[in-house]
Amino acid sequence: MSKTAELNIDGKTYSLPIFTGTEDEVAIDIGKLRDQSGVVTLDPGYKNTGATKSAITYLDGDNGILRYRGYSIEELAEKSTFIEVSYLLIFGELPGKDQLQRFRDDIKTHTLVHEDVKKILDGFPSTAHPMGVLASLFCSQTAFYPESLDPNRASESVYLSIIRSLAKMPTFAAWAYKNALGHPANYPDNSLEYCSRFMKMMFALPAEPYQPDPVISAAIDKLLILHADHEQNCSTSTVRMVGSSQASIYSSISAGINALWGPLHGGANQEVIVMLESIVKDGGNIDKWIAKAKDKNDPFRLMGFGHRVYKNFDPRAKIIKKAADDVLGKLGVKDPILDVARNLEDIALRDPYFIERKLYPNVDFYSGIIYRALGIPVEMFTVMFAIGRLPGWIAQWKEMRENKEPIGRPRQIYTGQKERAYVPITKR
Ligand code: CMC
Repeated sequence: MSKTAELNIDGKTYSLPIFTGTEDEVAIDIGKLRDQSGVVTLDPGYKNTGATKSAITYLDGDNGILRYRGYSIEELAEKSTFIEVSYLLIFGELPGKDQLQRFRDDIKTHTLVHEDVKKILDGFPSTAHPMGVLASLFCSQTAFYPESLDPNRASESVYLSIIRSLAKMPTFAAWAYKNALGHPANYPDNSLEYCSRFMKMMFALPAEPYQPDPVISAAIDKLLILHADHEQNCSTSTVRMVGSSQASIYSSISAGINALWGPLHGGANQEVIVMLESIVKDGGNIDKWIAKAKDKNDPFRLMGFGHRVYKNFDPRAKIIKKAADDVLGKLGVKDPILDVARNLEDIALRDPYFIERKLYPNVDFYSGIIYRALGIPVEMFTVMFAIGRLPGWIAQWKEMRENKEPIGRPRQIYTGQKERAYVPITKR
């Protein structure tokens, strides 16, 4: 027998269906509650609202578990590649050898972007943040591929948009960086794999040979896997929300890039480095900064700490912390901010303020330290996050479309003025 929950409002009882997920997560289905009772639920920030049923990513924040399509993040980060994980997220299963080869080849076929995209790029001043440039270039693809605007197009055409998105993202990202430097853009070198190709577009200088470092490419590949999906976070919900109006995949993902940009979401990785540098410059007095983070009259927060869902260690942060040690060791980089980060983490984790609120380092706490060691400038950190998150956004957009989800349209409780008569300006 299916379970139900009972809700009593003013003496009247309503029976609400209970839905249980494959990992025994329980949800009360309130979809028809308003029709039955005239009442809506109120949940600012959707802290306790399941916006969808999804078969892509499982996250257990209390126990620090993250799985893509059932595979643990630890195992994928150690044994898989970003392209393989992208396939897994988007199509639901790990690819066979031939499927993976075809997927990789298809991506290579579409890495070039239309030459007119350069004209759009040229319109941005070099002061433009690369995230804004990335979002704009991504959205511009609706103009180059107008068939993407058709909400009912065939699945082969959707496949092509998915491939184009994955193929062109590193090109847009590297071009956004080159624009910030005022340097000429590099074209994709398809003799290289995904991450090496991206590195070459980022760092090659005209008439100088560039050889991607395999240590760097491997480290980036791992970081991209760790960022590839994270269920219904702010940017992913944005992608699904925009996509639910049947907007194109390019505009939906462009909206996701904008949502990711903020310092409370993907922008935190940039903020962590700014914070750690400020602490070093300020003399390294960690206690002072911890006190600032705890002071409710001070807007400062410990960036890279805390998470809406994880009330335990973020499993991605554990992997990244170890990777930071490995990468810095292999590259022979000594970075004083790594020591500050470790001390900050040690002190915070013993402090009752952070213990009581279950605030642990999140994915952004150590990722910036690796990016810095790899020579990636701080303004590009959130762009790196976006490159990683792209297959997740695509998978979630595709799932939303295939499930024929209704347009996202929350309710509100109005708290403004009651109806009143207009007062002419002469009488105000
Ligand atoms: N430093 C100091 N206090 C904090 C922090 C922090 N980083 N994070 C949360 N708190 C406190 C907060 O002040 C509140 O205290 P109180 O109960 O006394 O009012 C309590 O902890 C709960 O915080 P909240 O803001 O209600 O929690 P939330 O779920 O709305 O916010 C968060 C989650 C990630 C936005 C928040 O922890 C934060 O601002 N962290 C810093 C920014 C950051 O690192 N963001 C990256 C998130 S991971 C990458 C991603 O997936 O986006």
